[in-house]
Amino acid sequence: MNQASTRTNRLPSAQARAPGKIILSGEQFVVLGAPAVAMAINLYSKAKARSNLNKRVQVEVDIPTRFLSKADPYPPNSQEFLRPLRIAVEATLDRIGKRRQGIDVSVDCEIPIAAGLGSSASTTVSIISAVSKSQGVDLSRKEIFKLAFVPERYLHGKPSGVDQATCIYGGSIEFTRPASIKPIRVQTEPILLLCDSGIHHETKTLVGSVVKQSETKRKIFRDYLSQVREISHGVSKALRSGDSEDLGSLMSLNHELLRKIGVSHPKLDRLVNTAKRAGALGAKLTGAGGGGCVVVVCPTARSRERIAKVFRREGGRPYMITKDTDGVESSAPS
Ligand code: MEV
Repeated sequence: MNQASTRTNRLPSAQARAPGKIILSGEQFVVLGAPAVAMAINLYSKAKARSNLNKRVQVEVDIPTRFLSKADPYPPNSQEFLRPLRIAVEATLDRIGKRRQGIDVSVDCEIPIAAGLGSSASTTVSIISAVSKSQGVDLSRKEIFKLAFVPERYLHGKPSGVDQATCIYGGSIEFTRPASIKPIRVQTEPILLLCDSGIHHETKTLVGSVVKQSETKRKIFRDYLSQVREISHGVSKALRSGDSEDLGSLMSLNHELLRKIGVSHPKLDRLVNTAKRAGALGAKLTGAGGGGCVVVVCPTARSRERIAKVFRREGGRPYMITKDTDGVESSAPS
């Protein structure tokens, strides 16, 4: 090793990992104040941060091409794509009083992007955690939650906070704006299957359209919100008691509401119906909608294999997911 690289290796560094997420109930309506139930999943983003001597913030991201879509508005590593990630780095340095610190940040994102799986929140959270840890600061989960609003607002306009809360805390949670995060103790894990429709969306536009509708159709939205409140409480209860049948039918009900407010997509509806015909206990879109993934509750592990096969035949990309229980984790070389 030459002298220069020995010096670089001694610069303070750290890494962090955060899971992606699915929403089992309440997306979109959570922005308007209803509770949502979400679960962290075993797809991750990983960030590495290392101080540099040139006083610049440099960010790069690596995403496997299979997780990208031609419809994604910006290519990875374009200025537009990296902007919210830079914002996350700068907000973190600002928060820990190191505004002038130069830092190199690299991110590996193994979560399909713009697919409703929390790729942006997960990336943001792992960056905040790695950057602060590299500077010798262990931010609390609460502090990471607050900081993550800065890039999330830039990206989504009006985030509820459910995405970052799930990526930070891990496990299954019931979330209500502005910051109520209740962990759900799950009796028996449901057997879940994800399927990516391959159609990618922009969360900001979808959330904006729902907020606008809620302002003009007040009465009907009041009714939807009270239905979602009941659905989310029912989903929490079904998870606690291990009742997958109840869970499935509540999720299907939730999908209907999301369809009514116009955030589904014909391909998502087709995947939901296909899953039900193939024996699923229930299914719904997950995340902002307009494309992305559906989440399916399966009665058995075998039926999950069968439904996944049907999805493949229909041109979807299935993922056998499990719950992540750890949330964000960071480490620094000793
Ligand atoms: C996106 O995963 C969930 C939305 O409800 C937006 C939010 O809550 O910030 C669509």
